[in-house]
Amino acid sequence: MKHILFDVNIIVDICARRKPFFKLSCDSLEKCFADGCSPWIYTGSVQTLEFTVASELVRLKELDGCSLTGSMSLQIARKLLAIFSSKMNWLAALANEGDVFGADDPEDQQLIRALDRFPEGSIKLLSRDKLLLSKYPEKVISPEQYCQLPAEECKLHFIDLKAQQDQIRPELEKNIHQVLHHGRYILGPEVKELERRLCEYTGAEHCVGVSSGTDALLMPLMAWGIGPGDAVFTTPFTFIATAEVIQLLGATSVFVDIDPRTFNIDPQRLELAIRAVKENDPSIHPLPKLPPGVKAMVPRAIIPVDLFGLPADYDPIMELAKKYDLKVLSDSAQGFGSEYKGKRSGTLGHATATSFFPAKPLGGYGDGGAIFTDDDQLAEALKSIRVHGKGKDKYDNIRTGLNARLHTMQAAILLTKLDIFDNELDAKQKVAERYTGLIADKKAEIIPPHIPEDFRSAWAQYSMLAETEKQRGDIQAALKDAGIPA
Ligand SMILES: Cc1ncc(COP(=O)(O)O)c(C=O)c1O
Repeated sequence: MKHILFDVNIIVDICARRKPFFKLSCDSLEKCFADGCSPWIYTGSVQTLEFTVASELVRLKELDGCSLTGSMSLQIARKLLAIFSSKMNWLAALANEGDVFGADDPEDQQLIRALDRFPEGSIKLLSRDKLLLSKYPEKVISPEQYCQLPAEECKLHFIDLKAQQDQIRPELEKNIHQVLHHGRYILGPEVKELERRLCEYTGAEHCVGVSSGTDALLMPLMAWGIGPGDAVFTTPFTFIATAEVIQLLGATSVFVDIDPRTFNIDPQRLELAIRAVKENDPSIHPLPKLPPGVKAMVPRAIIPVDLFGLPADYDPIMELAKKYDLKVLSDSAQGFGSEYKGKRSGTLGHATATSFFPAKPLGGYGDGGAIFTDDDQLAEALKSIRVHGKGKDKYDNIRTGLNARLHTMQAAILLTKLDIFDNELDAKQKVAERYTGLIADKKAEIIPPHIPEDFRSAWAQYSMLAETEKQRGDIQAALKDAGIPA
């Protein structure tokens, strides 16, 4: 079980310290936290909670031979509920939970319906209501039954999107509902607002929200007119999309090996590769087979990749680009939020592509991406390519384009995530420093990630090197046994 929805009776037990139920209800709450379960209160129960806690406070005072005024009891109830709910998640009441007046008990029916939103078997309603317990034994659990369940293993996730969602839920749901209500689903106001905030964040002049990190790579190459006969230099140690976009345009990938300490493209070898293409001489650097009909390639662009979140070494790359008149498209799908010599990802190449795939440093709840640039003309071309090569409007088609817009709903989600992004980066930095410190203390034969001075990683992954394949297998097995995803 991953979630527990707390019924009003349990919350009243805890807030009003109602005997004899107080202890068991508190034990249930503690177990929920200890097991790593998410505790929920139904938003539709607010009024009932306020009224019931206040009434219970009056009743308990009367039992002690004292009295409490109605307004005083309400004030105390509100304070107690505010403290209690600050540790819980609010479960929004949705429209299909309003139409319950035909049920024997509309409020109970609301709670039962709300459970249906969660994957089967992942949630139970914690209640002392005997009718509910007997009517829905598979959905409702009593504090006695719950406390007798064995402790659940608190599972570590590779990327814990659930914990992140618990932190941002109120804002997230508000933003999603706003989109449902204004209905501007295609390039709606949230896309513009996100683009503005991402420019502010990165320091780039322009941001163009697009449908994926892959399209964010493809589109600048299209805008630069890269195609058959053109050579694009990149690293082979990357996700397939980096090379795929070169192939898609009929251009040729020239792979340049990495610096083994940073895993990113090696600028010295890059210059050799550029010279080899220019001079059509594979003795300088290995060259790929030329496509049919192409006698010699023209060097056109470089795609450095910020692998695992660490920026490539942009100063020498940009110098080479200037020297040989090449465009630089930074593949920062994994590197959003990283920094290089005081500058943020998004400002390091002529254009930068990032991805909002859910597992990325700034991830949405679906596909998405963005392109950053300081080049006004390029930004205009990208906005045109994003909508079928539009000119004045989408029926005036001035170039071959794509349907590659960032969804309004994804932008609404990303705006919420951007609010906590810096805190997450700081937390990841601390965790990474701790790992690196522990590896050094153990004097293990493991090489921790190398972060050169003046670089800051976005820590898309924490990647270490084993000495041998056997050692790597042993580490993987040990981590698996300890329940640590790797
Ligand atoms: C280095 C790199 N480039 C490009 C991409 C493509 O991004 P998307 O999945 O958003 O298309 C990824 C995503 O995994 C990536 O890691």
